[in-house]
Amino acid sequence: MKTNLFLVSVISLLSAAAFGATDNDKYGGENRGKPLLPAQSDTLWQKECGSCHIAYSPGLLPAESWRKVMANLASHFGSDASLTAQENHAITDFLVANASNRWRAPTAPDRITETAWFQRKHDSHEVRPEIWLRAAVKSRANCAACHPGAENGDFEESRIRIPR
Ligand code: HEC
Ligand code: HEC
Repeated sequence: MKTNLFLVSVISLLSAAAFGATDNDKYGGENRGKPLLPAQSDTLWQKECGSCHIAYSPGLLPAESWRKVMANLASHFGSDASLTAQENHAITDFLVANASNRWRAPTAPDRITETAWFQRKHDSHEVRPEIWLRAAVKSRANCAACHPGAENGDFEESRIRIPR
């Protein structure tokens, strides 16, 4: 554990130096300069989108990605996550209003884990391939395995904990 934490901090220092990271650049150039999750959250979103996995903060994807995800809930990554039209509208509004507005990538993927910033932040230097296979991690989409505050939009490097 200690070694992992030490490595994480060394790696962040190195990548900060290499990429000249600033606050705006913190989330791989996709940060909006405001929290990933607004202080005024949405209970319907929390309930419906947080039942199978954590409710992924709206700031993790651009509006176009959220529109695509919300338009395909009946075949949602192999699951049926459909909602009533009214619920769908309300949640789409919340996600779009709080989406990343600094998206520089040319595409709007459905998965956070397919975005360029995610892949850069989680490449094999940051997370050794073996770690993804651990029982406590299993999926890249399981953010909370390593970011205990993921549900609250907290991905601070200093609070990362790599599970054994
Ligand atoms: C019935 C269960 C279920 C519900 C409800 C659900 N999801 Fe999912 N979602 C999944 C599964 C399964 C995956 C794939 C997880 C994986 O690859 O490990 C997924 C993945 C995702 C991903 C991609 C994660 C990534 O980067 O790989 C996003 C974004 C997402 N869901 C958004 C939502 C939103 C928004 C809602 C609410 C409208 C929602 N989900 C509700 C089951 C669900
Ligand atoms: C296996 C552990 C693991 C999982 C699972 C994981 N991450 Fe990370 N994440 C890390 C590590 C390690 C870093 C540190 C990279 C660095 O030092 O720049 C990181 C960095 C980040 C950062 C940048 C933090 C900063 O301050 O620079 C964000 C944002 C982030 N992760 C979001 C996510 C999201 C969203 C998910 C789920 C879709 C996720 N992570 C899943 C380990 C993980």
